[in-house]
Parts: sequence; C-alpha cells; structure tokens
Amino acid sequence: MATSQFSSSDVPMEILFVDDEKNILSSLKRLFMYKEYIINLANSGEEGLEILKNNPHIGIVVSDQRMPYMSGVDFLEKVRELAPDTLRILLTGYADIEAVADAINRGGAYRYIAKPWKDEEMVQVIAEAVKRHSLVKENKNLQIIVARQNQELKKWNAELEIDVQQQSMEIQNKNDKLQELNRNLQKSFKHTIMAFAGLIDLRDISTGNHSHNVAEIAVAIARQMELPAGETEAISIAALLHDIGKIGMPDNLLKKNLSDMNEYERAAYEKHSVLGQNVVKAVDHLAHSGLYIRNHHELYDGSGFPDKLQGESIPQGSRIIAYADYYERAVYGPGKGRSIDSVLKIISAARGSRFDPLIFSAFKEVIRSLPLKV
Ligand SMILES: [Fe+2]
Ligand SMILES: [Fe+2]
Repeated sequence: MATSQFSSSDVPMEILFVDDEKNILSSLKRLFMYKEYIINLANSGEEGLEILKNNPHIGIVVSDQRMPYMSGVDFLEKVRELAPDTLRILLTGYADIEAVADAINRGGAYRYIAKPWKDEEMVQVIAEAVKRHSLVKENKNLQIIVARQNQELKKWNAELEIDVQQQSMEIQNKNDKLQELNRNLQKSFKHTIMAFAGLIDLRDISTGNHSHNVAEIAVAIARQMELPAGETEAISIAALLHDIGKIGMPDNLLKKNLSDMNEYERAAYEKHSVLGQNVVKAVDHLAHSGLYIRNHHELYDGSGFPDKLQGESIPQGSRIIAYADYYERAVYGPGKGRSIDSVLKIISAARGSRFDPLIFSAFKEVIRSLPLKV
C-alpha cells in the first residue's frame, strides 16, 4: 500500500516502512503525513520485497526487527541484494544489540532507531537519510555525466586530430602548389629577361650575341668567386640587361666607335647606363641589378661613367660585368676579332687601372671554357 504526500519541484523521496504491527505503520504514516515524501507501507518482509521489486524509486527502507517469518535483519539483507543503493534503517528495542550488529554487517544498515522512538528523532533521522541519499544519488549522476563527457572529449580529440591532420595535408598540398607556381613564375620571369636581352642584341645586330655572352661570362666569374646564389642571379639579370639603355639611342650613334664620337655624342652615349637603371627600376626586386647596370662602365681607377666611382665603391656586380663586357666586345665585337691571348694580355695589364685586380684570377680561370656564341 502506498500513499503520496505533498509534491515539491524536486522528485519527492520514496520511503518504505515495514512493520507487522498495523498501529505502528499508522503512526509512522501520520508522522510523515505533512512531509514531502512518498510513503510506502508493508506488513511483512515479503510484502516489503514485493513493493521494492515493483518500485525502483524507493530510496530509504525502514524495517522493524521483530517480525514473524522474516526478521528485520533478514529482510534488510535481501533489500541490500535487491536494491543496493537504498539507505537501510533498522527499528529495534534497546536491548537488541546483536540485531543491530547483524543489521550493520549483513544488511549494510545505514543506522538504527531504538523502539519506542521519539517522533522528533525519527523525523530527524529520516531527513538526514533523505539528504544523504540525495547526495549519493547526485554524486553518482555526476560521475555518470563526467564519464560520458570524458568519452565525448576522447571522441572530439580523435576527430580533432583527424581534422588537424587533414588540414596539415591540405596546407602542405597548397604549399607545394604555391612553390610550383613560384618556380614557374621565376622561370617565366627569367625567360622574359632573356627575351629583352635578345631585343637589345637585335637593336644593334653588329654586336651579335653580346648581352647573352656577357651574362654567360659574368655568371661564370661569380660562381668561380663562390658568390651567394641570389647575388649571382642579380648579376646574371644585370648582365643580360646591361645595355638596355641603348634601345632608345639613334642608329648612327650605335654604330660609332667611342673614339670617333664628338663631345655631345659621347655625352648621349654615356647616358645609356643610367637610362638602363631607370628602365629596370620599375620592377621592385631588380633594384640590385639596376645598380649594377648603372655602374657597368665605371672603371677601377675612377675614370669611368656615370658617377666616376673608384675601387671598392663600384658595386662588385658592376666590376664583374666590366670584365665580361670588355672581353666579349674585344673578342666577338664588330671588327675586333682579337685572339683570346691578346685580349687577356690587355686585361691583365689593366688590372688596378680599368679592372678590379682581385677579380682577374676568377675571370682567367673560367674564360677559355665558356660556350660563347658569335
Ligand atoms: Fe654598356
Ligand atoms: Fe655592353
């Protein structure tokens, strides 16, 4: 038999009282009539077990010890097996110490209440039991939630790891593609520079393959001197474009020897290195090459143009191109065709005056083995 009391916003605690004396059950029912519990009553251990089997919400079981057929201790022991989460309380006489010990040991009793009880004590014990049961239940629920969250966290971690791996792979793929694009861009940039150099050589057909040859020699010298790759590249571009400023020069001036030019013609001719620098200045990363173009006619002793720079103040790239430019013109230039040995002799003699003496050995080392085109 079950009887419900006032409800609260929380689920009310269900309590089972077991006693073979009906008047005791009635007084217990009366005692808790105005409390927010659901009260279940049973006249015997058997009836109590039946109620428990059908009602998993019962959290507290209070049983009399002295009952026919099944004692309170035997009953609580069975309750412990059937519903281990219940809090079990034994009701017994003062002298029944043995029953109390049994209830604790076998029935896992939470505590006992001496008969006859004081109502305030009974209310107090039940209130404490309700609080304890709620705490234990809450703790269990929290443990379940924590375990579930841990599982979810593990799952998220695994998913996150897969995501990170996928993203890393995507980034790597994009990076590879970007590098390939960059390589293609550099290649097509170099091809554009070569095309310009071809254009310069076409402007004055008598110079043959001058720009490409000068670049071939200058790069070979730079490599022999073990200059960094970036610097060698800047020298290569400057050598290919060193006479780009000549594109705008009039034909008659292009065809004249320097020694045959009058003062005005010479001044116009000397402008080609500065004009060349101005042309490449428009491209950001060609600033270095632009400087080498500007100074490719400077001479080591300071008698060159346009800035009359001297010695080390002439950029090294320009000093290297000066070797290549002179040699190429002397051996392959229009109407020259001098022998390599004779030109080497002239250049060797001009070390320290026209040319940087420190570059001579690298120049001499590479010059005979280069595949230059007439
Ligand atoms: Fe030049
Ligand atoms: Fe030149």
